[in-house]
Amino acid sequence: MTPYTRKQPFLAGATFVVVLAMTLHQSFSTEAPPTAPASVTSTPQVPSASPSKPERGNYNVTNNNGTACLMASMGLQLNVTYVSSSQSKPVQEIVNLHPNMTKNMGSCDGDSATLILKEENTTLTFIFSLNSTSRKYHLNGLALSAFWPDMSEPFSASNTTLNYLRGTLGHSYMCREEQTLNVEQDFSLNTFQLQVQPFGINGDQFGAAEECELDEDDMLIPIIVGAALAGLVLVVLAAYLIGRKRSHAGYQTI
Ligand SMILES: *[C@@H]1O[C@H](CO)[C@@H](O)[C@H](O)[C@H]1NC(C)=O
Ligand SMILES: *[C@@H]1O[C@H](CO)[C@@H](O)[C@H](O)[C@H]1NC(C)=O
Ligand SMILES: *[C@@H]1O[C@H](CO)[C@@H](O)[C@H](O)[C@H]1NC(C)=O
Ligand SMILES: *[C@@H]1O[C@H](CO)[C@@H](O)[C@H](O)[C@H]1NC(C)=O
Ligand SMILES: *[C@@H]1O[C@H](CO)[C@@H](O)[C@H](O)[C@H]1NC(C)=O
Ligand SMILES: *[C@@H]1O[C@H](CO)[C@@H](O)[C@H](O)[C@H]1NC(C)=O
Ligand SMILES: *[C@@H]1O[C@H](CO)[C@@H](O)[C@H](O)[C@H]1NC(C)=O
Repeated sequence: MTPYTRKQPFLAGATFVVVLAMTLHQSFSTEAPPTAPASVTSTPQVPSASPSKPERGNYNVTNNNGTACLMASMGLQLNVTYVSSSQSKPVQEIVNLHPNMTKNMGSCDGDSATLILKEENTTLTFIFSLNSTSRKYHLNGLALSAFWPDMSEPFSASNTTLNYLRGTLGHSYMCREEQTLNVEQDFSLNTFQLQVQPFGINGDQFGAAEECELDEDDMLIPIIVGAALAGLVLVVLAAYLIGRKRSHAGYQTI
């Protein structure tokens, strides 16, 4: 038996696995990020310097009796389009919230929890609601009011029909990756390293985390590559065994 015929199944198998792995990886990396359609009506100036990541802050809301009823830990970045008074046209500004200068307050009742964050001239409000039948919660409202130095008038935006940060009662919602929450055409919120629990806090700790899809996709690629490598090993093993069997058969017929 010549070395050529023994090598062939190995090469074919290996090529197949590599091509498969590359195709899978490509199909995942080209997947569009799950952002809502961007506004195209106005084309405001894009700031030249790319914004730095916001610092992560811990924001808790406590009940009258002093127990935490909402816990949140997250980095927050505002993406706001407003009419600049110096340029008399829409500009887009990216502003990070600074945890050490942000005051937090809020309130909780049976099926609704509110977190209000205030930095100088900026107020950001989160409203979570709980469906006690399905035992699921979500962020249904986000509101921003701001008056920054170059604004021609006070800015305000709110949307109370959102459906973000969906979790199960007793669990926290977690998203390590950057996530964009579109609120209105001229306001979106970028969250970083977010973990929230608006209901059902037991003690002073987050419940078991339910991770967002962005984080899961991130873990999927290594899993696929690992599976492809395992497949490669199997193919090589099979090729080796088949090759051995063939050469044995070859010797026996002689
Ligand atoms: C605090 O108040 C909340 C509701 O207002 C209640 O569910 C909780 O049991 C109270 N905790 C304590 C320690 O009294
Ligand atoms: C801000 O929002 C605009 C569209 O509304 C988008 O094109 C841009 O990429 C956003 N910037 C950041 C840093 O999120
Ligand atoms: C807040 O933190 C930033 C950077 O972490 C720092 O530059 C600033 O001085 C701090 N401000 C206050 C009031 O502590
Ligand atoms: C709560 O969840 C149940 C079951 O999923 C659903 O039928 C009901 O419409 C929901 N209620 C609200 C107020 O969304
Ligand atoms: C906040 O607003 C007040 C009055 O509206 C203004 O004097 C002040 O400079 C603003 N501060 C910042 C940081 O924009
Ligand atoms: C509010 O959010 C919903 C869901 O994301 C969206 O369909 C709707 O257009 C938003 N409303 C406004 C005024 O932007
Ligand atoms: C919020 O609660 C957590 C857990 O009790 C605690 O580690 C954190 O320091 C609290 N943050 C604030 C701002 O009170």
